[in-house]
Amino acid sequence: MNTSTSQSLFEKAKTLFPGGVNSPVRAFKSVGGHPLFFAKGEGAYVWDEDQNKYLDFCCSWGPLILGHAHPHVVKAISETAAKGSSFGAPTRLENQLAELILSNHHYIEKIRFVSSGTEAAMSAIRLARGYTGRDKIIKFEGCYHGHVDSLLVKAGSGLATLGTSSSAGVPQAYANETIVVPLNDIEALEAAVTQYKNQIAVIAIEPIPANNGLLLQDGEFLRYLRQLCTREGILLLFDEVISGFRVGFEGAAGYYGIQPDVLCFGKIIGGGMPVGAYASSAEVMAHVAPEGPVYQAGTLSGNPVAMAAGLAQLSECLRPGFYEELREKTDYLVRNVMAYAQEKAYAFQMFSIGSIFWVSFDGVKPIRRMDEIDERGVQRFAPFHRALLERGVYLGPSGYEVGFISQAHTNADIDFAIAAMKEALDVAYAH
Ligand SMILES: Cc1ncc(COP(=O)(O)O)c(C=O)c1O
Repeated sequence: MNTSTSQSLFEKAKTLFPGGVNSPVRAFKSVGGHPLFFAKGEGAYVWDEDQNKYLDFCCSWGPLILGHAHPHVVKAISETAAKGSSFGAPTRLENQLAELILSNHHYIEKIRFVSSGTEAAMSAIRLARGYTGRDKIIKFEGCYHGHVDSLLVKAGSGLATLGTSSSAGVPQAYANETIVVPLNDIEALEAAVTQYKNQIAVIAIEPIPANNGLLLQDGEFLRYLRQLCTREGILLLFDEVISGFRVGFEGAAGYYGIQPDVLCFGKIIGGGMPVGAYASSAEVMAHVAPEGPVYQAGTLSGNPVAMAAGLAQLSECLRPGFYEELREKTDYLVRNVMAYAQEKAYAFQMFSIGSIFWVSFDGVKPIRRMDEIDERGVQRFAPFHRALLERGVYLGPSGYEVGFISQAHTNADIDFAIAAMKEALDVAYAH
């Protein structure tokens, strides 16, 4: 496999960007080798700068639920851009996208568009603090909410601990406002809300945690969270940046039938353009400026080109059977790869929900918490990933990342992936 052009582009990039990339996980550090530089994407496929073709299960880390360059999305983007790409003033397209979302998502009444998932999470946290008049927040170990200062925090030791920063540059004073608890641990949550009674503004969770493996939660645990928040006057924040419009149009809230107080979105909502959003009841959203005292703004918020892309993509998602078809393709992939792993007695599991899947190399089921992932198993991901690349299949370059199936993946594509994954498993378990 010749990837020399990608390699020389990466050498150049290292002189321009820290680590040669504009977002760390792209650097291929955990799988070795150098990142591939992509030149083109169409449907379920991408082509690198050396003209190698790959079946893509990264899908830009989730936004591309229709695959690459879907004709409706491309048309919407180009027609809108031709009329001017930004005004810094309201446009009809913002109304249209908001109406499409709000009339089909019954857990929210008002929405505010921003430009990334990070911005959405940051703004949702500020809103929760402004609304409750409380400062502390609870997050879960293994959930990622973007690179927001107060959320770049990992657990200390003990049951319900104040966090310690997981990045240089985050003041300890910020980390002190964040309590980090393990997922699926009612005892730790009860201890935290008792210890910090009337101080906690919000409990933030990825209801479908998909940033450190796919840590599928028990519906009972999520329902308990809802009750706990109601009991304690705490807002429940569902970070649906990945799960939103992915496991169904109404995301995890709809999937589990749980009403969160605040939701944040990203990825799919922008049709591959930079969009995020946070949303809640009209009553809570009335606290956002200029209606209320919680300040939040953005030069490119509600950008027309991005709104048009989001409209085109989400309109497709609303087609009857859209999500069922995606789920069936995912189930088919998982069932077949798992059957092979079982036949070969490999300690391997594939977890999935909707069109999200994760390959896990430690054979234990279920895995609901980050500390239940066996790191030695994850080391098998590097040879698995390499073997897949050599067979024309692209997964995100980290064993902790999930894969995504898009509408553009055909049954034949999935069969191709199954064959490649079987061979890649043999390679991974030969090490
Ligand atoms: C659950 C979740 N929240 C927030 C973010 C941050 O989104 P962005 O990368 O668009 O800033 C991500 C990114 O992957 C995410 O998965």
